[in-house]
This record gives sequence, structure tokens and C-alpha cells, in this order.
Amino acid sequence: MILSRYFVCLTVILFVFSQQATARANYQDSLPVTRGAELSLYAEDNETNCLVCHGKLIYTLTDTVMGMTRKQLMSEQNLVIPGMFYNSVHWSFSCLDCHSEEFKIFPHSIEARFETSWGCIDCHGYDPNYEQYGFEEIDAEYQKSVHYTATDGLITCWKCHDPHYYNPLARQTRGGREYIIRSNEMCLRCHSNAEVMGLITDENVEIVLPKHEWLPDVDRHLEAVRCIDCHTRMNDSVLVAHEVMPADSAVRGCTDCHSQNSILMGTLYKYAARESRDEKGFVNGVMLRNDSYVIGANRSKLISFAGLLIIGMTLAFALVHTIFRIVVKPKDQVHE
Ligand code: HEC
Ligand code: HEC
Ligand code: HEC
Ligand code: HEC
Ligand code: HEC
Ligand code: HEC
Ligand code: HEC
Repeated sequence: MILSRYFVCLTVILFVFSQQATARANYQDSLPVTRGAELSLYAEDNETNCLVCHGKLIYTLTDTVMGMTRKQLMSEQNLVIPGMFYNSVHWSFSCLDCHSEEFKIFPHSIEARFETSWGCIDCHGYDPNYEQYGFEEIDAEYQKSVHYTATDGLITCWKCHDPHYYNPLARQTRGGREYIIRSNEMCLRCHSNAEVMGLITDENVEIVLPKHEWLPDVDRHLEAVRCIDCHTRMNDSVLVAHEVMPADSAVRGCTDCHSQNSILMGTLYKYAARESRDEKGFVNGVMLRNDSYVIGANRSKLISFAGLLIIGMTLAFALVHTIFRIVVKPKDQVHE
């Protein structure tokens, strides 16, 4: 009996330990990658060529012929905040890797302004190092999306993925609320701003939010689900589906999400589900640890944990007890 108690204790300790190890591993995964101006080979060039002006709200205009200077405001859309640039995926680049040498001259020439930019696929396509992102599949989906077809390709990848600040958010933040808000900001930058829309289409496009008032508590919903969860065609071969469909194909059924097999398991929670399926097997990772509960039905972590603990202890006790029965039995028989 003492031995069996010892086993139960050991099982409990091991269980608690494994939970903590998982929590720690998750935390470490989400720490930012080491990046920064100090590590960039081009920080100095970038500063003297471009960021002297583009990196600050106020820059100094110089007339070298007359030897005069004056302070000027840099407009917000031409501002490139150095700290955010050196923390983005393309932190190690020189500005001139993507921009024409002509930009070294100010005022910038017309030719420079009409430079053609690289697309993501030009650098990332068919490169095994980036296979996990599925760039080719994303590109194919994007070409079927309303954004491509309704604007003749004017909405490039860069219009959603900021060229200077981009980070793959889903992987970095593991789908928390902050992720959802930032992901939706990518869409609202246009869809809540008539002027930005005016740069792309001459049609008088309505601002989006009123179209969503059929959702109860709209604000809360738009902080809990991504625009793309309702507006893209589901695709299992990439983490983030990119085929934005016309609005009349969007999800609007409450039970599409508020049900046991919510579509969100295949969209918003896909990353967490995939990861834990790979690491720990489906049952452990998804069924026990993950968010496969009915959305909107809030649950308490503490109670789930206590529940697991009780089940675990019962099972362990039964197991130990059975083993004891088997091991101890022959002796019993001898005594009889
Ligand atoms: C002397 C200050 C100054 C420097 C140095 C400078 N720029 Fe600019 N740049 C500006 C200002 C001001 C604007 C906005 C007004 C304009 O478009 O002329 C601008 C606009 C731009 C634009 C937008 C052009 C457009 O048509 O919308 C790009 C792109 C650009 N700069 C890139 C660069 C790059 C890359 C460098 C470094 C190689 C650089 N600039 C260096 C001041 C500067
Ligand atoms: C990975 C490629 C890449 C790098 C590196 C890059 N840019 Fe850009 N930049 C772009 C693209 C693409 C656009 C056009 C975005 C669009 O089409 O809306 C752009 C646009 C701009 C603009 C116009 C305003 C805007 O945001 O649309 C400025 C100014 C600018 N870049 C400055 C810089 C400076 C300064 C650096 C270096 C610190 C830099 N860029 C580095 C790709 C890059
Ligand atoms: C001019 C070539 C070029 C273009 C254009 C470009 N990238 Fe990159 N990208 C790179 C390089 C090189 C790296 C590795 C940078 C480093 O860490 O030093 C990178 C890194 C990344 C990473 C991080 C990959 C990883 O696993 O560490 C992502 C995600 C990414 N790019 C997405 C994009 C997206 C999205 C676009 C288009 C909106 C794009 N890139 C356009 C060259 C490019
Ligand atoms: C209409 C807006 C939009 C356009 C256009 C767009 N994307 Fe995205 N993309 C998103 C959103 C939203 C996400 C989710 C945010 C995140 O996780 O980074 C995303 C995520 C990604 C990711 C990260 C996926 C992962 O596995 O972590 C890649 C890579 C990507 N897009 C590539 C592209 C490429 C390549 C193009 C152009 C062919 C493109 N995107 C065009 C909105 C867009
Ligand atoms: C660069 C600006 C821009 C960005 C960023 C953007 N959109 Fe759009 N979107 C447009 C334009 C322009 C149209 C075409 C409007 C029209 O002609 O009806 C459009 C059309 C749409 C439509 C079809 C509307 C209809 O009437 O059928 C949907 C749905 C949509 N966008 C959703 C999104 C989502 C989701 C995101 C973020 C992942 C996003 N958009 C990001 C500019 C943008
Ligand atoms: C819960 C699902 C859901 C979410 C989340 C959602 N939408 Fe919608 N959206 C819809 C439906 C359904 C419609 C069609 C409404 C109608 O036609 O009455 C629609 C309509 C639209 C339209 C067309 C508007 C028009 O004028 O016809 C655009 C653009 C759009 N949504 C963009 C977005 C953006 C951007 C976000 C994120 C901020 C978003 N949606 C979030 C379901 C959703
Ligand atoms: C795209 C998926 C999606 C759709 C479609 C959707 N919801 Fe939700 N709903 C959510 C999510 C996610 C939450 C947030 C749960 C949370 O905050 O934990 C939520 C929250 C709610 C809440 C608040 C629940 C609470 O815990 O207080 C109500 C009520 C609700 N939804 C009702 C509806 C109704 C009614 C519809 C149909 C008209 C609908 N939802 C459509 C995903 C969705």
C-alpha cells in the first residue's frame, strides 16, 4: 500500500512537471527572434542614405548651392520607423535591396517613383527554406481572390503585408487576441478608410462595419475572430487561407462557429491545433490541452486542470492496484 501511494505521488508529480514544461516551451517559442539595428550590416548605410529623412517625423532639407537649411515634416505614410523595420522579417536588408539607387537623390525622380517592386514570390517561391509557408499556394489563391480580380492586381501582397514592418503574426503570437486585432487592422487600413480606398478604386465603396451589424455585439466579435475567418475559402494546405471571396459567400451562420465542430478549428485555431498534433499526438495536444471546447461557452483552466488531475489519479491508482494484484497474488496463494 505504501508503494502504491508512492506511485500515485510520482504520477502526480510527473503530470504537473509535464504541464509546466509545455507552458515553458510555448513561452520560449513566442519570444522574439534576435534582430536589431546593431546586427544589421546595412544600418549605417540605411541611416545616411534614407533614414536621416524617412526615419524621423522632422527632417532637415538642405540647399547645397545656397548653403541653406530648413526643417520639414515627414508625412506619416512616408515614415519608416527604424525600430520596427529592424524587428521585421526583412530587418537584414538594405533599403536599396528593394528600392532603386535613384532614391539616393533628393528630390526623388519620376523614374524612381515608378520603380517596379519585387513580389514575395520572386524571392520566396520554390525555395525549400520557406516551404512551411506555402508561398506558391498562397500566390495561386491570391490570384483567385476578389482583390486581384476586381482591381487588376493593383492590390499586391505588399498592400496587406507592410513592406517595412511585416512579421508572420500567427506563428509569433500563437493566435491570441492581440493577433486577431492586428490581423484585422491589415484589412481595416483600407476598409475603414475612404481615402486609402480612393487610391485603388474609383467606385464609391462603402465602409465596412455597418454591414456587420447582424452580429450581436459586433465589436466583441471583431476582436475575437479574424475578417479572413469569414471571408476566405478554407484551405488546409496553408496556415492562412488567402482566397478572399465576394461578400455574398461569407460565413454568416451562428452555428458555423458556435458548435462542437466550429469552422474556427480549421481557420483561427489551426496553428495551435497543428502544432500540438505534431508534438504530442492528437489526443493529448488537441483534445486535452487545446481550445476544442464550444466557443462562447467559457471554461475555467483551473477546473479543467483539477478534473484532469482527478481522472489521472484515479487511473494511476487503478493501474498500480492492478499491478499489485498481479505481483502479489502468487505469494497470497502460497500462504493459503
Ligand atoms: C533629404 C531627405 C530624403 C532622403 C535622404 C530620402 N528621401 Fe525618400 N522622400 C523624402 C520625402 C520628403 C518624400 C516625400 C515627398 C516626395 O515624394 O517627394 C520622399 C518620398 C519617398 C518615397 C515615396 C515616393 C512616392 O512617389 O510616393 C520613397 C519610396 C522614398 N522616398 C524612398 C527613399 C529611399 C529608399 C531613400 C534612401 C536611398 C530615400 N528615400 C532618401 C525625403 C528623403
Ligand atoms: C523588402 C523590401 C523593402 C525594403 C527592405 C524596404 N522597402 Fe520601402 N517599400 C517597399 C515596397 C514594396 C514599397 C511599396 C509599397 C506599396 O506598394 O504600397 C515600399 C515603399 C516605401 C516608401 C513609400 C511609402 C510607403 O510605405 O508606401 C518609402 C518612403 C520607403 N519604402 C522607404 C524605405 C526605407 C527608408 C527603407 C530602408 C530602411 C526601405 N523602404 C526598405 C519595399 C521595401
Ligand atoms: C527581395 C527578396 C524578398 C522579397 C521581395 C520578400 N522577401 Fe521575405 N525574406 C527574404 C529574405 C532574404 C529573408 C531572410 C531575412 C533574414 O532573416 O536575414 C526573408 C524572410 C522572410 C520571412 C521569415 C522567414 C523565416 O522563416 O525566418 C517571411 C515570413 C517573409 N520573408 C515573408 C515575405 C512576404 C510575405 C513577402 C511579400 C509581402 C516577402 N517576404 C518578400 C527575401 C525577400
Ligand atoms: C487582402 C490582404 C492580404 C493580401 C493581398 C495578402 N495577404 Fe498574406 N496574409 C494576410 C493576413 C490577414 C495574414 C494573417 C496574418 C499573419 O499571420 O501574418 C496573412 C499571412 C500571410 C503569410 C504567413 C502565413 C504563415 O504560414 O505564417 C504569408 C507567408 C503570406 N500571407 C504571404 C502572402 C503572399 C505571398 C501574398 C501575395 C501573393 C499575400 N500574402 C497577400 C493578408 C493578405
Ligand atoms: C489595399 C486596400 C485593401 C486591403 C488592405 C483589403 N481590401 Fe478588401 N477590397 C479592397 C477593394 C478596393 C475591394 C473592391 C471593392 C469593390 O470594387 O467592390 C475590396 C473587396 C473586398 C471584398 C469583396 C466585397 C464585395 O462587395 O464582394 C471583401 C470580402 C474584402 N475586400 C475583404 C477584405 C479582407 C478580409 C481584407 C484583409 C485580409 C481586405 N479586404 C483587405 C481593398 C482592400
Ligand atoms: C462573422 C463573419 C464575418 C466577419 C468576422 C467579418 N465579416 Fe465581413 N461580411 C460578412 C457577411 C456575411 C457579409 C455580407 C453582409 C451583407 O451583404 O449583408 C460581409 C460583408 C463584408 C464586405 C462587403 C461590404 C459591402 O459593402 O458589400 C466587406 C468588404 C467585408 N465584409 C469586410 C470585412 C472585414 C474587413 C472584416 C474584419 C474587420 C470582416 N468583414 C469581418 C461576414 C463577416
Ligand atoms: C466566425 C465565427 C463566429 C460566427 C459566425 C458567430 N460567432 Fe458569436 N462568437 C464567436 C467568438 C470567437 C466569440 C468570442 C468568444 C469569447 O469571447 O470567448 C463569440 C461570442 C459570441 C457571444 C458572446 C458569448 C459570451 O461568452 O458572452 C454571443 C452571444 C454570440 N457570439 C452570438 C452569436 C450569434 C447570435 C451569431 C449569429 C448571428 C454568431 N455569434 C456568429 C464566433 C462567431
